[in-house]
Amino acid sequence: MNHSHHHFDGQRLLVSGASSGIGREIAIALVQHGAEVILVGRRQAQLEETARLTGAAERTHLQILDLSDLDRIVPTITELASRLGRIYGLCHCAGVVQTLPLSASKPDRVRAMIELNFMAGLELARAITRRDVLPETGGSILWISSVYAHVGAPGQIGYCASKGAIGAAARAMALELAGRHVRVNCLSPGMVRTEMTDASGSRMSQEQWDQIAARHPLGTGEAGDVARAALFMLDPANTWITGADLVVDGGYILQ
Ligand SMILES: NC(=O)c1ccc[n+]([C@@H]2O[C@H](COP(=O)([O-])OP(=O)(O)OC[C@H]3O[C@@H](n4cnc5c(N)ncnc54)[C@H](OP(=O)(O)O)[C@@H]3O)[C@@H](O)[C@H]2O)c1
Repeated sequence: MNHSHHHFDGQRLLVSGASSGIGREIAIALVQHGAEVILVGRRQAQLEETARLTGAAERTHLQILDLSDLDRIVPTITELASRLGRIYGLCHCAGVVQTLPLSASKPDRVRAMIELNFMAGLELARAITRRDVLPETGGSILWISSVYAHVGAPGQIGYCASKGAIGAAARAMALELAGRHVRVNCLSPGMVRTEMTDASGSRMSQEQWDQIAARHPLGTGEAGDVARAALFMLDPANTWITGADLVVDGGYILQ
């Protein structure tokens, strides 16, 4: 990561899912490029580790929050903003995946993915775009979606739906917020090895992992590959990119 540019100097951004994987890497990259970052997740020790890894923990704020408790999101973020000051940007990276065939895609299981991947992001967006929270000059919202918003896969019906909802909502949100100079974009990663893709997390066997990996022409990705793209999309200098969905997948969806 290039540390010589400080595009985010003086900007405060919130990263959900900052306690591991892609969200952690994005939070670190933002701080290293001058931002002040609110790290949101449920696990305190892991959030503290992210803060330490930024090398500038004084520009991080830890917010322990279970985002599945949707009603708590707006009050928590509003209170946080009244304490810290206005929030320029949001990267909704918290997410869950459960591989389920159609026969096992019961409402509660599918709802859990839609609520965290989509609805929690919506509540975070609602919170940071309040007129007493967002700077009058505008802001930037980035949703971490997935290649599964664009292509299907067996066992991913609920997950695909949750990511598809993100893409559709982001386009509408981009139009609604353009007048306030708030840009809204998505980033759709292919397979990146994180806690989510560990066998324990996704119940994927090594064989399944290898099969998916083989379908990435440039190989599987690293969280840093996604973080570099996220910095670009969130960058306050990128004033003309909105409603876009940047696929970062080593060529996965080309076939
Ligand atoms: N890895 C991939 O291959 C891949 C590919 C495409 C898209 N994505 C997307 O990228 C995003 C990050 O994935 P990842 O691979 O980095 O996964 P990860 O390492 O499992 O991280 C998931 C993050 O979500 C947070 N989270 C989960 N449930 C939460 C809850 N109820 N409340 C608050 N935070 C919660 C976790 O924090 P706590 O446990 O501390 O709460 C953790 O920081 C997800 O949206 C995922 O769908 C990943």
